[in-house]
Amino acid sequence: MKKKPDTTLSPLYTYHEGMNWNPVEKVIFERRSIRVFKKKEVPDSLIKRILEAGRFAPSAGNCQPWKFVVIKDPQVIEQMERDTIRITRLLMWFIDYERGPVRRILLGTPVRLLTRLVPNMLHPIPFNLLQRIASGSVPVYHNAPVIILLLVDKRGVGTPSLDAGICGQNMVLAAHSLGLGTCWIGMITLLMKMKKWRKRFGVTYPFTLDDCLILGWPRGDYDGEIGREVQLVEWIREGSPQSKTTERQGE
Ligand SMILES: Cc1cc2nc3c(=O)[nH]c(=O)nc-3n(C[C@H](O)[C@H](O)[C@H](O)COP(=O)(O)O)c2cc1C
Repeated sequence: MKKKPDTTLSPLYTYHEGMNWNPVEKVIFERRSIRVFKKKEVPDSLIKRILEAGRFAPSAGNCQPWKFVVIKDPQVIEQMERDTIRITRLLMWFIDYERGPVRRILLGTPVRLLTRLVPNMLHPIPFNLLQRIASGSVPVYHNAPVIILLLVDKRGVGTPSLDAGICGQNMVLAAHSLGLGTCWIGMITLLMKMKKWRKRFGVTYPFTLDDCLILGWPRGDYDGEIGREVQLVEWIREGSPQSKTTERQGE
């Protein structure tokens, strides 16, 4: 959806064609992942308000298959950062087989096989991020003052990880509407390879932890529209049961 030049917001719960964004749409379209934060405390009352937005998320069968852990201790966050870098370096030692001919011969085939087994994790984008984390050129938790862990209860009906994603997005949008910045961090899965962190965060059956949110006051103005792929959407409309039309969404 194109941003309207007139920035007056439309009221909620009304619609007419061509109207400006309402406040909810504004937050959805202007939200960006924030990775640079001010060294300023986020009050507990504000964090609790954001957790409420998560708590009220819809879930299959109203199972609410999630548990929150809020981390505000800078020393713990620093330890998480250090340990994630350590694990990433170890991981890269095994999987980055392009560094030298011997490694290529010894590690090439098993790593290529692994790439097929876990294509999501070893996709070029996370792979590139892993390389940068290992070299210390990019932080994992971006020196955020707050981390919210979103544990998923595997016993939820349907697809608990989808419920948790909806819950997390509720918190992300609420946080942005309140002036905070957030970013999802999937790289927390690396930390889950260490028993001490699983124990510390209570990630034992039936809980898993695949993603967390970092949270803080944004430094600089990062909000704004960001490009997305045009989607080819199939429409099945009344009166044409056998046929469908494909329309380009986002132009
Ligand atoms: C489930 C999930 C995991 C993510 N993990 C990371 C991460 O580990 N590190 C990071 O910097 N960004 C992470 N991101 C942020 C994405 O890179 C970002 O959402 C995407 O590039 C689109 O940019 P935008 O959020 O600014 O619109 C993650 C996003 C999602 C939804």
